[in-house]
Amino acid sequence: MTDPKLKVLIPSDKLQARIRELGEQISRDFPTGRLHMICILKGACFFLTDLARAMKRDVYVDFMGISTYGKGKTSSGEVKVTKDLDISLEGADVLIVEDIVDSGVTLNYLMHLLEQRRPKSIRIAALLDKPERRLRPVHASYVGFQIPDEFVVGYGLDFAERYRNLDDICVLDPAAEAAAK
Ligand code: PRP
Repeated sequence: MTDPKLKVLIPSDKLQARIRELGEQISRDFPTGRLHMICILKGACFFLTDLARAMKRDVYVDFMGISTYGKGKTSSGEVKVTKDLDISLEGADVLIVEDIVDSGVTLNYLMHLLEQRRPKSIRIAALLDKPERRLRPVHASYVGFQIPDEFVVGYGLDFAERYRNLDDICVLDPAAEAAAK
């Protein structure tokens, strides 16, 4: 897709190579046992499907919907579950799969929520991490790329629900986007 408002930050081949590495690393860290990969909708669905296929072992896949209000502006963002998991986490190794850690509000909340469901362990895999934006502490065990504080879209990430289907992670100039309307 050629769009002057978009600048490629991480091209598709780099994304895919890094996801293969993460899949191999996570498979080594969890060679046996019941491993649940939890996709946080919607942004993480592209990462989840590629990461699951990069795993060298069998995994469970489940989905969770979250909506957050006031996110990124204050640390008191209100988080609500809009779609819960289908499969019990009791006794399982859990891998929360996210496209991006930004303020940390979503993942900080989710870690506390899912810990109450008595899993054996919980770790986070995040494709992108913007550490400069953090308001709440989050430790992601597996990170694809640390990125600067720029507005990124593509490979699941959106601007007003657009651009999720780009193969690459791109920087979008929001001013140019607004002016084009
Ligand atoms: C994005 C992203 C994470 C969250 C990270 O989701 O997918 O879930 O924000 O932000 P935080 O660290 O500041 O909490 P979004 O709410 O945009 O929903 P979407 O995935 O459906 O686009």
